Amino acid sequence: MNFLPMDEADLPAVTAAEQRIHRFPWTLGNFHDSLLAGHEAWLQRENNELVAFAVVMGAVDEAHLLNISVVPERQRGGLGRALLDFLCDRARQAGMLRMLLEVRSSNQNAIAFYQRFDFVEIGRRRGYYPDATGREDAIVMSKKL
Ligand SMILES: CC(C)(COP(=O)(O)OP(=O)(O)OC[C@H]1O[C@@H](n2cnc3c(N)ncnc32)[C@H](O)[C@@H]1OP(=O)(O)O)[C@@H](O)C(=O)NCCC(=O)NCCS
Repeated sequence: MNFLPMDEADLPAVTAAEQRIHRFPWTLGNFHDSLLAGHEAWLQRENNELVAFAVVMGAVDEAHLLNISVVPERQRGGLGRALLDFLCDRARQAGMLRMLLEVRSSNQNAIAFYQRFDFVEIGRRRGYYPDATGREDAIVMSKKL
């Protein structure tokens, strides 16, 4: 699979897809700031339609997976796996020792996905995310590279 680097011109499409995928979506400004900060950002198109994207921040020897998203109609078709493999390979090649992420404790689908690829829970951040009624915990997960 050929993933393409995300650039500024992609952001309207990325933001529109993000709004369809997440209950609490990143804004265009969040993606813009990520690009500006030099984070790794990749996407996949099929027939010119955006179907998946991800953002990773490198920090010394740790890669932080900040966002991984597949459009609803293409979920459970192997795109997430391909994208995660690609990101882990790149991080490994860059000398990173592990990949870290935070996930909403209610996001059981994503937790199952990460566990399937050997991420393990290493902690919790209480009330880390806003939710409809207040705050929600983040589960911190890590995978050795
Ligand atoms: C989580 C996400 C990135 C996974 O991508 P995907 O393309 O749907 O997942 P894949 O098809 O590559 O799944 C690979 C494996 O992960 C596991 N998995 C994926 N989705 C799952 C689900 N909903 N429930 C249980 N296991 C799941 C399965 O083991 C699956 O293999 P299988 O289909 O052969 O059983 C995608 O569903 C998504 O964008 N979800 C909404 C956004 C989100 O929650 N992002 C992560 C938090 S920021």
